[in-house]
Amino acid sequence: MQIKALTVVLATLFALGPGQALGAQVPMSGGRLADTKVPVLLGVMSACPDALVCESVFNHVIQRVGDKVDLSLTFIGTPNASEPDFGVTCMHGAVECAGNVQELCAMKYTERSMWWRFIQCQNFKGRDEVGKPETALKCAKAVDIDWENSDVGQCAGTDGSGKGEEGVQLLLESVKNTTNLGIEKSCTVLISGKQVCIRDGTWKACEGGHAPEDFIRQINEEYTRLNTASSGME
Ligand SMILES: *[C@@H]1O[C@H](CO)[C@@H](O)[C@H](O)[C@H]1NC(C)=O
Ligand SMILES: *[C@@H]1O[C@H](CO)[C@@H](O)[C@H](O)[C@H]1NC(C)=O
Repeated sequence: MQIKALTVVLATLFALGPGQALGAQVPMSGGRLADTKVPVLLGVMSACPDALVCESVFNHVIQRVGDKVDLSLTFIGTPNASEPDFGVTCMHGAVECAGNVQELCAMKYTERSMWWRFIQCQNFKGRDEVGKPETALKCAKAVDIDWENSDVGQCAGTDGSGKGEEGVQLLLESVKNTTNLGIEKSCTVLISGKQVCIRDGTWKACEGGHAPEDFIRQINEEYTRLNTASSGME
C-alpha cells in the first residue's frame, strides 16, 4: 500500500509545475492527496436581480459540493474614462460598481467561507442595498471581516465606499476579464471554462438544467473527470 501511495505522490508531483507542487500536494487529513477542484465562474453584476437568483442557487450548490469547487466571480461592466469614481460604467449605477469592488476585495483578501457569506448577506439586504457603504460595513461585521483594520478595507476603502484605489483597479481588471471571456449576461455560469447556463430574466441555454441538483451533478461529473485524468492511475 505504501509503495503504491508513494507512486501516486511522485506521479502527481511530476504532472504539476514546480510552483504548484508544494501548495497543491499537501496530504489531506484522511491521508488522501489534495485533489483538483472544479473551476466554477459566475459572471455577475452585484446589484442585478438575476445575479441574486444565481448566487442563491449556488449557495445550495456550495453547501453540498463546496469542497470540490474553486468558485470565483467576474463582473460585467464597461470601461469608461469619463466615470469619475470607478472608471467603469455599471448597469445599475455607481453604487453597483461600489458593490462589485467590495465583493472583489473581500474575495481577494478573505477565505471563501467568509467572502461568500459576505455576498449572501449583501444580497439578503436586497439588491437596492448592495454597494452602499453601510451595507458593506454591516455585512462585514456579520461575517467577522474586520473591515477597517484589514486588507479588505484597505482595498475597497475603509469608509466602505468601494473607492479604494486597489479595488477600483481590480474592478477594471475584472470587467476586462469578463469581456475577454465572452460573458455578456448577468448571470452566466461557467464550469471548467465552459458556459453551462444563463439567468437573464429567465433561465436560458441551460442544457444540463438550472436547479441546485443540476449544477451539483455537473460539478460531480467534472470533478471525477478532472481527478481521474490527472492521476494517471485509472
Ligand atoms: C461614460 O460615463 C459618462 C459619465 O458618467 C456617461 O455620461 C456616459 O453615458 C458613459 N458612457 C457609456 C458608454 O456608458
Ligand atoms: C483576471 O484574469 C486573470 C487571468 O485569468 C486572473 O489571474 C486575475 O485574477 C483576474 N482578475 C480579476 C480581478 O478577476
